[in-house]
Amino acid sequence: MKQRLPLVIGNWKMNPATRAEARKLFIGVRQALRRKNLHTDIAIAAPFVFIADIASYSPSNRIQLSAQNVSAEAIGAYTGEIAVAMLKSFGVSSVILGHSERRASGETDAAVVAKLETVLKAGLTAVVCVGEEKRDSAGHYFTVVEKQLHHILKSVKRTQLERLVIAYEPIWAIGTGATATPEDAHEMKLFIQKIIADTCSRAAIAKVRILYGGSVKAANAADLLNDGNVDGFLVGGASLKPKEFVDIVQAASEYGKH
Ligand code: PGA
Repeated sequence: MKQRLPLVIGNWKMNPATRAEARKLFIGVRQALRRKNLHTDIAIAAPFVFIADIASYSPSNRIQLSAQNVSAEAIGAYTGEIAVAMLKSFGVSSVILGHSERRASGETDAAVVAKLETVLKAGLTAVVCVGEEKRDSAGHYFTVVEKQLHHILKSVKRTQLERLVIAYEPIWAIGTGATATPEDAHEMKLFIQKIIADTCSRAAIAKVRILYGGSVKAANAADLLNDGNVDGFLVGGASLKPKEFVDIVQAASEYGKH
């Protein structure tokens, strides 16, 4: 099977503060990527309220739209929730699920799985985050990731595997500047692939992209790709700086050429 293109997702989290700033940020990225022949997929996961504006600034869909969360319920009396059908109607093509910041405020593996099933059933791509809180010399962090993955993999049908993306995001690396080394990222990617092979099939490995997230910057992106062999990134802080984000995208595009 042909190697899939890398994927870089900018997770804006709860930023920026205003509609005008969101517009400026998105247009900054769009302008910097203009006329570039890119060998990578790119998505922006903006807060829900900015998605409509962003969709109108990128009619070509060159920068794909992602969301940071979704309800597990299809539609109805769920105050404050957003349904996957709503996201789809704005052209959103992927949803980040189980981010550690959401897990920290009480989102359980069961809740992540319920959302995952809803997203896949709707035909969208699910970007599911896994990752340990800390590392220990006994390697317990592998068990943490394995447990999270089992919940995810057992609810994905074989025909849906191409729409599953796993983002390995060690919590100790998120927003801290303490990026995992390319070796750490590579080792975890191989571990995740082994679990995918054991739970699904060997063929499934080629279908599921495995991203790295946690203090990705322009300065470490190329090493994480070339030596870590990850299939792209989930970028938080650096996605709020157009030049920095575009440099990360360019690194992924270079990597995606071969
Ligand atoms: P960071 O966030 O790049 O700011 O570390 C990554 C994430 O939380 O997805």
